[in-house]
Amino acid sequence: MTKLGLIINLAVLLLGVSATSLNATLPRASCTVTSYDQVQTALSSCSDITISGIEVPAGTTLSLHLQDGAKVTFDGRITFGFQNWGGPLMVIQGKGITVEGAAGHVLDGQGELYWDGKGADGSNKPLFMRIKTTGGSTFSNINVLNCPEKCVSLRSSDITLSGWNIDCSAGDTQGGHNTDGFAVYNGNNVLIKDSVVKNQDDCVAINSGTNMVFSNLHCSGCHGLSLSVGISKTSYEANVVTNVTFTDSTVENSDNAIHVKTHADGTTGVITDVTYKNIKMSGIKNYGISIQEDYANGGSTGTANGNVPITNLQMINVEGSVGDTATPVYIFCGDGGCNNWSWSGISINGGGYASNCNFLPSGFSC
Ligand SMILES: *[C@@H]1O[C@H](CO)[C@@H](O)[C@H](O)[C@H]1NC(C)=O
Ligand SMILES: *[C@@H]1O[C@H](CO)[C@@H](O)[C@H](O)[C@H]1NC(C)=O
Ligand SMILES: *[C@@H]1O[C@H](CO)[C@@H](O)[C@H](O)[C@H]1NC(C)=O
Repeated sequence: MTKLGLIINLAVLLLGVSATSLNATLPRASCTVTSYDQVQTALSSCSDITISGIEVPAGTTLSLHLQDGAKVTFDGRITFGFQNWGGPLMVIQGKGITVEGAAGHVLDGQGELYWDGKGADGSNKPLFMRIKTTGGSTFSNINVLNCPEKCVSLRSSDITLSGWNIDCSAGDTQGGHNTDGFAVYNGNNVLIKDSVVKNQDDCVAINSGTNMVFSNLHCSGCHGLSLSVGISKTSYEANVVTNVTFTDSTVENSDNAIHVKTHADGTTGVITDVTYKNIKMSGIKNYGISIQEDYANGGSTGTANGNVPITNLQMINVEGSVGDTATPVYIFCGDGGCNNWSWSGISINGGGYASNCNFLPSGFSC
């Protein structure tokens, strides 16, 4: 806490007025917070806050509800105490906010204390970070380490995330599971770019959202650049994914590179105008490209359902190789579930199993 911050806080207390009503007259105060118990005061009195090396107590959410247009910078090592609960460990909310990571900082979820190889089916593990923003918010250069389970849950509009480094690679040998990188539950006008995700579930998982671009992502250890649509849950009932592009990205040493799954046991929904372009893969264990309309409970039912039709699915220049245990391309559509797909430049080598398709995109022979 700077002296200025302290004075402002005292003034706020003495005057007995809410800090937000003063924001028009306050200077654009900057504060540095070095312990968890200083955070909420800083949020109400400062518009430029550095959170440096704090320890968030176990079982507590670091709740950052920023003033409009405010900025937060993470600095040093920020840790979250261990407790078996649902979390989230962090929530960031605001309008037109800027969130940055200083060089060398890390948000450490201490996933290694939770991992039991069972993810959501094992002990109770907290979601790491929930982001709910509007109005041109940007999140840049954020380093996330060892998520207990899912890393980032996004319900936001007009947001850009860039320069993220999500590193749960320790979970490869220590029982990390269901550590999805970016899970989008609701988004409009979302751009996620120039980022690295090393984890043990989807690199990106889109449940619902429109007008989104994922560009220059590098995924490793993951389950794919994924769409997962039709889950029956009221929290993301829309189940509409439209106008989404994944471009100029790589997926390596992963179960799948591209995975579109619709929940055959779920509700209705729509996937339309989705493009995968310039995607490179290597070291794939299950499927180079898997599009299945028979997904349920984390697996395949064997009976595809057209409850979430997939229309205008484009693949352009999807290249690379898959391993001996893998199938290059798998397409399993329900009755009337797949329409007007256009694929070109698909070149996936290797694989111990032949590609298998019950629907043929134009420009592609299975
Ligand atoms: C002051 O803050 C409130 C709440 O964040 C916001 O609605 C309002 O527009 C702000 N006023 C100014 C002048 O920035
Ligand atoms: C699709 O989304 C992109 C990125 O948000 C946007 O620029 C473009 O205008 C959208 N296209 C349509 C047809 O809405
Ligand atoms: C088919 O998909 C292409 C893009 O892949 C789109 O431009 C076109 O409008 C679609 N046609 C129909 C009938 O939906």
